[in-house]
Amino acid sequence: MNMPSFSVIGANFLLLLGFSVGLDSISPLQSMKDGDETLVSGNGRFELSFFSPGLSKNRYLGIQYKNMPATTVVWVANRSNSTGNLAIVNANNSVVWSTNTTTGAKRPVVQLLDSGNLVLIDQEDGNYLWQSFDYPSDTLLPGMKLGWDLKRGLNRRLISWRSADDPAPGDFTWGVELEGNPELVMRKGTAKFYRSGPWNGIGLNGGPDLKPNPVFDYDFVSNKDEVYYINTYKYSSAMLRMVMNQTINSRQRYAWSKETKSWGIYASVPRDYCDTYALCGAYGNCIISSMPVCQCLDKFSPRVPDRWNALDWTQGCVRNKPLTAKEMDLSNMKGTMNLEECRNKCLQNCSCMAYSNTDVSGGGSGCAIWFGDLIDIRQYPAEGQDIYIRVNASEIEIAESNRRTDQNNDGRKDELELPLFEFTRIVDATSNFSIHKKLGEGGFGPVYRGTLQDGQEIAVKRLSRDSGQGLNEFMNEVMLITKLQHRNLVKLLGCCMIRYELHCIHGEERMLIYEYMPNKSLDYFIFDQTRSKQLDWPKRFDVIYGIARGILYLHQDSRLRIIHRDLKASNVLLDEEMNPKISDFGVAKTFGKDQTVGNTGRVVGTFGYMAPEYATDGLFSVKSDVFSFGILVLEIISGRKSKGFFHPNNSLNIILVAWRIWKEGNPSDLVDASSRESCNTSELMRCIHISLLCVQQHPEDRPGMETVVMMLGGENALPLPREPEFINHEGPLELPDLSSNELLRSLTNKLTVSLVQPR
Ligand SMILES: *[C@@H]1O[C@H](CO)[C@@H](O)[C@H](O)[C@H]1NC(C)=O
Ligand SMILES: *[C@@H]1O[C@H](CO)[C@@H](O)[C@H](O)[C@H]1NC(C)=O
Ligand SMILES: *[C@@H]1O[C@H](CO)[C@@H](O)[C@H](O)[C@H]1NC(C)=O
Ligand SMILES: *[C@@H]1O[C@H](CO)[C@@H](O)[C@H](O)[C@H]1NC(C)=O
Ligand SMILES: *[C@@H]1O[C@H](CO)[C@@H](O)[C@H](O)[C@H]1NC(C)=O
Ligand SMILES: *[C@@H]1O[C@H](CO)[C@@H](O)[C@H](O)[C@H]1NC(C)=O
Ligand SMILES: *[C@@H]1O[C@H](CO)[C@@H](O)[C@H](O)[C@H]1NC(C)=O
Ligand SMILES: *[C@@H]1O[C@H](CO)[C@@H](O)[C@H](O)[C@H]1NC(C)=O
Ligand SMILES: *[C@@H]1O[C@H](CO)[C@@H](O)[C@H](O)[C@H]1NC(C)=O
Ligand SMILES: *[C@@H]1O[C@H](CO)[C@@H](O)[C@H](O)[C@H]1NC(C)=O
Ligand SMILES: *[C@@H]1O[C@H](CO)[C@@H](O)[C@H](O)[C@H]1NC(C)=O
Repeated sequence: MNMPSFSVIGANFLLLLGFSVGLDSISPLQSMKDGDETLVSGNGRFELSFFSPGLSKNRYLGIQYKNMPATTVVWVANRSNSTGNLAIVNANNSVVWSTNTTTGAKRPVVQLLDSGNLVLIDQEDGNYLWQSFDYPSDTLLPGMKLGWDLKRGLNRRLISWRSADDPAPGDFTWGVELEGNPELVMRKGTAKFYRSGPWNGIGLNGGPDLKPNPVFDYDFVSNKDEVYYINTYKYSSAMLRMVMNQTINSRQRYAWSKETKSWGIYASVPRDYCDTYALCGAYGNCIISSMPVCQCLDKFSPRVPDRWNALDWTQGCVRNKPLTAKEMDLSNMKGTMNLEECRNKCLQNCSCMAYSNTDVSGGGSGCAIWFGDLIDIRQYPAEGQDIYIRVNASEIEIAESNRRTDQNNDGRKDELELPLFEFTRIVDATSNFSIHKKLGEGGFGPVYRGTLQDGQEIAVKRLSRDSGQGLNEFMNEVMLITKLQHRNLVKLLGCCMIRYELHCIHGEERMLIYEYMPNKSLDYFIFDQTRSKQLDWPKRFDVIYGIARGILYLHQDSRLRIIHRDLKASNVLLDEEMNPKISDFGVAKTFGKDQTVGNTGRVVGTFGYMAPEYATDGLFSVKSDVFSFGILVLEIISGRKSKGFFHPNNSLNIILVAWRIWKEGNPSDLVDASSRESCNTSELMRCIHISLLCVQQHPEDRPGMETVVMMLGGENALPLPREPEFINHEGPLELPDLSSNELLRSLTNKLTVSLVQPR
């Protein structure tokens, strides 16, 4: 009989001695023989012994659970050859297997630890010269690191047995792969079979089973020395193992049940069809609940439509438009990578295709960046992590607009034909945004005048990044305004996003290009003593009428029905013939018959013009625009700025003043001196009357814009306005003189916003 024995070869000597059962260590003067001799961990849980797996006659040295009904091997020493100084020798003293440690230890001892780790310790310094946890078989035990020791170039990974009878390394593996963002990858042979998605601080993106749980703790460590996954017992009495099973191509987590005295599977991957690696090809998204499961990402289409439709998804999807740059948000995707800095980092490099947080805990940190095509994307119902994928800028605009249009317009898709201006064209047109070309500073950034090469005059609204007009407002304005065509609305000629035009160099900036309005805005004239002289009464009446028709178009006649929400003198621009053009749709809202009430967040607008129900309760509707129009008319008539509905000084409250004048029938107090001569008193009284109807406290009392336009143009008797109810208002409504968006924003936290269903 060739009786193998297990020996410690220290300092180049080898001795084989008898060995008794139950000790947890052997030293160089001892060895362990096949037979009754075993090494047992101190807690009695693990045992190192010779064994024959399954139907095999071969003998192997391995670690298994002690006192289990069925043999459960967690580690095999000599599943493959190596040479070194911890050895199995046969009866002829030739080495069958040994560890490969280079250092010769002074006082080596081999010990089987309570964790199931077999270690070669140098008793001089307590260092581990070698440990079985560094050379896993098919099983991961708590405390074992799965992954890389970069200093030693050591990759600890699980490799299945070939079969239940043969512990030799199979072709089904599980380990940490370092390319891109480290993640756990399962391979069948050389092909990727499943991947976890990268660590995001609280779990693995693609491993929804890995969540804080009562059984074990886990971590993923990634630094310059080490990259590994580890799990640890929450209770030392628990028994847990993770095994690669080549028979069924599955990785399973087992826990020991004391009650049933058996191992129970509590998790396994892959879980379903969608876990199949790259099932849907590049930019294909696997959604297990959809039919078919593979869907191209938004703004992508099948590369080979015929094959895709025949359910062959391997060719994946391609961008509808070639890439320049811009991210889009795909929520809840198993993704790849790591936000603001990360984003910049990605945008700086034109070959970066996507980015994401690596750590979503505590608000998100870390940066994961993808180069090259994104494959193996999977959408989960509520887990996963946002990744940001670059797509062509024009693509976003069209898609965003269409999406909104869909929502707002019964699914009808409209083509958006909005020219993208090249940044260099804008730079040329505005003499590099020269201070001399600056027309003014709007709420969302400076506005410049420019002349295109063909001589066309433009106004460029340059939205500063910290302007408060975010992408949403920008898209809102772009989308709304391009759909609108009316002589009393300002015309948007195009937009420009320099991030794309200059690729990755300039970061991000957005610009809106409008037709140029040579006579600035209404506030420039009506609130200035000198300039107001240029606006006689007939012109003022024309302006009022034009604004009314513009709003009527927004509310009723345009295909999208729009609430402007920020009607005011500075948002009414004047063309060369002093025709009014409503502008600034940054906070406008579309509404449709099936629009739901949303937590849309902020009350925006300008205080002096805000309807009471909007200012206090955030309720906006077409009737809040009507209110703003009423205020605007009073301003145009009087040349005075509205201080707000609640202004405590009655003699400064434009509504109260108007009410008094209307009651007394003597408009000359109100009318701006400069238009007094040209004034048609009956028209003027009618305008005051109409504005008093518009600024009534209760929205339902206010006329709709259609009625307003009819009243302005007609001579029929008008209904009586209700007396302003706030004349004797007392209490906490006293507010500072709020006329700027800035001050308004400071209030918005206290105000709730909801959307009123239009009738
Ligand atoms: C492991 O050791 C046993 C006993 O010496 C031997 O029979 C078996 O062939 C070895 N396995 C390998 C892969 O060398
Ligand atoms: C181990 O090495 C011996 C001798 O070099 C060789 O005959 C045997 O096939 C090897 N076994 C494995 C599993 O590589
Ligand atoms: C043993 O280690 C040495 C040095 O680290 C290496 O060159 C050699 O290939 C190893 N041998 C085996 C069988 O792993
Ligand atoms: C051990 O040596 C004996 C005698 O030399 C030989 O017959 C036997 O085959 C050897 N066994 C092994 C496993 O090498
Ligand atoms: C692999 O799965 C098969 C079928 O469920 C099972 O019989 C076998 O014991 C499993 N192997 C391991 C190593 O868990
Ligand atoms: C987006 O793709 C179109 C082609 O469809 C291309 O002409 C355009 O230059 C791209 N957009 C940008 C901003 O480069
Ligand atoms: C972009 O990233 C790729 C991949 O990391 C790198 O090879 C390339 O040099 C980077 N380019 C720039 C401009 O940083
Ligand atoms: C525009 O201004 C920027 C910054 O002031 C400067 O770097 C750039 O060279 C200027 N470009 C032109 C065309 O004048
Ligand atoms: C309006 O603009 C035109 C064209 O620039 C100009 O001729 C006209 O004088 C301006 N009107 C007023 C009232 O400033
Ligand atoms: C209200 O404003 C008017 C005009 O500015 C002023 O004369 C008057 O003193 C103010 N009244 C109060 C109570 O502040
Ligand atoms: C005043 O306006 C009304 C209505 O537009 C008109 O009928 C009337 O003739 C005008 N009166 C004068 C004096 O222009």
